[in-house]
Amino acid sequence: MGRDVIIACDFSNAGETFAFLDRFTGRKPFVKIGMELYYAEGPQIVRDIKRRGHPVFLDLKLHDIPNTVKKTMAVLSGLDVDICNLHAAGTRRMMTAALEGLTRPDGTRPLLIAVTQLTSTDQASMEEDLMIHAPIDQVVMHYADMARSAGLDGVVCSPLEAGQVHQRLGAGFLTVTPGIRFADGDTGDQKRVTTPAKARALGSDYIVVGRPITAAADPVAAYERCVAEFTD
Ligand code: C5P
Repeated sequence: MGRDVIIACDFSNAGETFAFLDRFTGRKPFVKIGMELYYAEGPQIVRDIKRRGHPVFLDLKLHDIPNTVKKTMAVLSGLDVDICNLHAAGTRRMMTAALEGLTRPDGTRPLLIAVTQLTSTDQASMEEDLMIHAPIDQVVMHYADMARSAGLDGVVCSPLEAGQVHQRLGAGFLTVTPGIRFADGDTGDQKRVTTPAKARALGSDYIVVGRPITAAADPVAAYERCVAEFTD
């Protein structure tokens, strides 16, 4: 898998999701299934989307004791997802356990990436709510280091951090980056946004794009535009 555009299918039910995906009659886009859709429809939604031929990033952001995460990852691995994730804040031991759970008897496994700090967390909330007093960019890089040393494949981060992550942890350590908007589009509730072309220039491996595609008048054209800007 190389550089690609992942569509965030932030729909609340299977019907809306399939109506959206039915529009893509050519190439089957990489799809992100988040908590809303997964908790609404259960694991069958993953099987159905895989059966339709889409690669799947299952964005459930696991964070629990290592044994629970290990056993849950084994279940997700059985769903044949392509990428899944967890919170680096769950500690190195939890990440190592997750990898063990994810690895199938034949040695294959989905890619596993870590959320460092959510972009909804800022310096003030980190200090006040979490009692973490280091500068947030250092915290993000520390979590990325920890994910790399635990053997994970990459992190979710801002495209603005992708270059630093690659410099520090290698070109092969994946950066999966949301916060993407077209130069002429609405920013919505995303604060720090980047165009697909800029994300490419900054070194993102995968961009996660939701509303600029799902809310477009012509979602297929918006997807093709993203792919052209990001990969060509
Ligand atoms: O609609 P939009 O393009 O903003 O969607 C971005 C997607 O990426 C959403 O599914 C959102 O939950 C997710 N995401 C994000 N920022 C993060 C982590 C995930 O926007 N830091």
